[in-house]
Amino acid sequence: MCLAPVEIATVSAEKVNLLSAYKIYWYLNSVGMRYLCPMKLIDTHTHLYLEEFEPDRAEMIGRAVDAGVGIMMLPNIDSSSLEPMLKLAGEFPGHCFPMIGLHPTSVKENYREELSLVEKMLQAKNFYGVGECGIDLYWDKTFAREQEYVFRHHIELAAGSGLPLVIHIRESFNEVIRILKDVNNPHLKGIFHCFSGSVEQAKQATGLGFSLGLGGVITFKNNKMQETLKHIGLEHLVLETDAPFLAPVPYRGKRNEPAYIPLIAEKVAEITGIGVEEIAEATSANAMRLFFPEGKAYKTEN
Ligand code: NI
Repeated sequence: MCLAPVEIATVSAEKVNLLSAYKIYWYLNSVGMRYLCPMKLIDTHTHLYLEEFEPDRAEMIGRAVDAGVGIMMLPNIDSSSLEPMLKLAGEFPGHCFPMIGLHPTSVKENYREELSLVEKMLQAKNFYGVGECGIDLYWDKTFAREQEYVFRHHIELAAGSGLPLVIHIRESFNEVIRILKDVNNPHLKGIFHCFSGSVEQAKQATGLGFSLGLGGVITFKNNKMQETLKHIGLEHLVLETDAPFLAPVPYRGKRNEPAYIPLIAEKVAEITGIGVEEIAEATSANAMRLFFPEGKAYKTEN
């Protein structure tokens, strides 16, 4: 019995769905036989199609799978990242799952064109989330109004498709909350990506039905989120790398990759005093509920 998940993980290269390995893992957990199979983790936010991974992409994904991170969710950036992202998802079915969206820092003069491509793609292909979208007021405020317009459009796309939203909130938490409250759609779900706010902010986001994405930042010394985390239930948390950015300690400043997700899980375990296995189980179950809800057909190829 203990060999089953390993076997499935191995043959997944031959296009067998790895998701069943996760189901076996949770079954063994639920009947108290957790020790029979290794921890399963999900990287809910990783940009593995970027050129930083050009030299060793297959090895890097192999390292992730070996580290128990068999599922990697790929948020899109803009029209330039679309093709490499779909190519990667096609090469690693059952491991890499694409999303569709326009990143707020890519909202420029041509945003209408970019947005219509997002719409067109959403109709044409199979995606697992709407993102990366949201608002970024850190880098450049020139297109702040257009960013809001584009974000509102993504919310409509998520509402229409039933997909989760993956929201970028850099220097824009209040704006994002204002917009979500204004839209006031109780069926919306998704992730506040790279969340590192206060307890009050965490409760605002989770109160709207959203999960909080925890990444390498949680391992940085004196990060505010370490205190916030003590007051937030596990049911609201998912793990992410945002690779190649924001590598956790001890790789801070270097290239990030999904194989580092266990470092984030271990830090969350240390801060909360909850076992790392339980953190893995809860965060992966939360991610599965969001991206692969019951009844959604698993289509691993576009
Ligand atoms: Ni990102």
